[in-house]
Amino acid sequence: MMKNGEKWLDVDGKPIEAHGGCRLNYGGKIYWYGEDRTGDNYVSCYEKTAKGWKFLNNVLTVNSPKQPTRVKSDLSLITEVASGEKVHAIIERPKVLYCEKTGKFVMWMHYENGVDRKCARCAVATCDTPYGDFVYHGSFNPYGNDSRDCTLFKDGEKVYFFSSSRSNLDMHVYLLADDYLNVNKFIGALFSNELREAPAIIKKNGKYLIVTSYCTGWKPNQSTFSVSDSIDGVFSVNQNLGDENTYFSQSAFLYENEQGDIVYFGDRWGGNDFNKTGVFDYAKSGYCAYKIEFDGKTATLIRSEDAFNE
Ligand code: DGJ
Repeated sequence: MMKNGEKWLDVDGKPIEAHGGCRLNYGGKIYWYGEDRTGDNYVSCYEKTAKGWKFLNNVLTVNSPKQPTRVKSDLSLITEVASGEKVHAIIERPKVLYCEKTGKFVMWMHYENGVDRKCARCAVATCDTPYGDFVYHGSFNPYGNDSRDCTLFKDGEKVYFFSSSRSNLDMHVYLLADDYLNVNKFIGALFSNELREAPAIIKKNGKYLIVTSYCTGWKPNQSTFSVSDSIDGVFSVNQNLGDENTYFSQSAFLYENEQGDIVYFGDRWGGNDFNKTGVFDYAKSGYCAYKIEFDGKTATLIRSEDAFNE
């Protein structure tokens, strides 16, 4: 049984590196993608097996193949600074969906150049298989906007991209093109001037539930939830979810398990040490899985020491 906040191990006893990620059900299998900041890695992929999470591949790395698309973008995955040093990019919040139209697995993410956090771009990568070596298509500002914490949400035939913008003051919503390689329509801005990030969305019984955190760097804070009848409609006023630290976690994604429960999957950045010592070490970051009880109007986060459903 996995413990909330700890660094979980894969079936080979190695730490799982899949932070700020997503869960994809495809072909009867369950994949977990997330940030991997070890070595030359950016994003790794794991598969859920009867024995636990099995490492499959470092699907995006410093050395990933690159290919431009119709979207004007910056293909840099390394930044050379004045001293000649080559700095790794910061790749955060990778989310992957399968595009029926193209047969491609499409990853969207938050890109920064690793020198400062001023690029505020989204980035896109694709692959013909769920855990092959993704091809990097570059980073860009959607309609020229800042784009930081983000997520994807597939609603029938349509796919939406949510991203924190305007220095995280607004949560932008975009409809993607039907090949998922670009934004196609700006839907609007949610929670304007409310400083929300780490968006995670699920649809249950016709209701759309979105969880977001406040913005306090790597420190946990009060998450909120909001509900709508339409993914591109009006969302309710944010209400608190969990306690003032969201049980020492920040949202990464929501999913429905085989029993129909909604699971909140989050990161405990810096692991349990950060909350005790105040000294941040990304490498100690752990994971949290809590059950959410949702009646269509109110969401309740159920605290536990043991990870729920993992
Ligand atoms: C909180 C965000 O959710 C993370 O993705 C990361 O950008 C950190 N802030 C950096 O402080």
